Amino acid sequence: MVFKIPFINHKQPEIIPEHSGENTPEHIAIIMDGNGRWAKNKGLLRTAGHKEGLSTLVKIVKAAVNCQVKMLTLYTFSTENWKRPKAEVEFILKLPKQLLDVYLPDLIANNVRINVIGDMHDLPKYTLDAMQYAIDRTAHNTGLELNFALNYGGRDEILKAIKDMYADVKDTKLSMDEVNEQIFSKYLYTAKMPEPDLLIRTGGEKRLSNFLLWQLAYTEFWFTDVLWPEFSEADFLCAIEQYKQRNRRYGGLSN
Ligand code: FPP
Repeated sequence: MVFKIPFINHKQPEIIPEHSGENTPEHIAIIMDGNGRWAKNKGLLRTAGHKEGLSTLVKIVKAAVNCQVKMLTLYTFSTENWKRPKAEVEFILKLPKQLLDVYLPDLIANNVRINVIGDMHDLPKYTLDAMQYAIDRTAHNTGLELNFALNYGGRDEILKAIKDMYADVKDTKLSMDEVNEQIFSKYLYTAKMPEPDLLIRTGGEKRLSNFLLWQLAYTEFWFTDVLWPEFSEADFLCAIEQYKQRNRRYGGLSN
């Protein structure tokens, strides 16, 4: 598929592997790590790394649209990221507005639907307004579902789900005997989402950092040392191609 409306202002990758649609992961989750180190390596402020990271984000969304990935979930700000200096936190939380001010028309034209997962309570109004506007404007789109994990923490999500489920049990809307994995999943932020098929983490670290702890139980992991600002479309397609070679057994045996 040709990308209908070109996204502006991003570098083209050098070599792009052949891509066939067969067995493409439907839901890809990404931990976009390495912005700070990329900036430090270049003698720049960490915020410059996040700005460059935003360009990579646009490039990878475009690549996901092109290879007909159904859902992309990006770890943009964790419940632990509040520990960072106030100026960096503010800079990151302004990025959704910066992104959407420029690219929302492209995203709409390419049939992308935007959603957010996480605890919206502590987020500043400028972040919430930008996200809500984009969610409303793209609500009827049927192409790539693009989820931003914002003020998201896997443990926080599980605790919230337990509390909400307990409230329903107390209100006799739910019986404890009925509770199973499927019902519990409905109390998570990801209630309406399929679990990720593939998790990509850039930046060399090999950990989950509190991302989608419940949902990643049987997800395939792909790690790269490439720092997020340097992550290319070619890298993304390489991850997809390697995913296709994996044998997913879900605890069972190979056919
Ligand atoms: C992790 O790198 C990155 C983040 C915590 C922020 C991710 C943000 C973007 C990729 C920009 C797009 C964001 C939005 C909200 C649209 P790090 O800072 O931990 O890097 P380091 O490990 O090298 O320090």
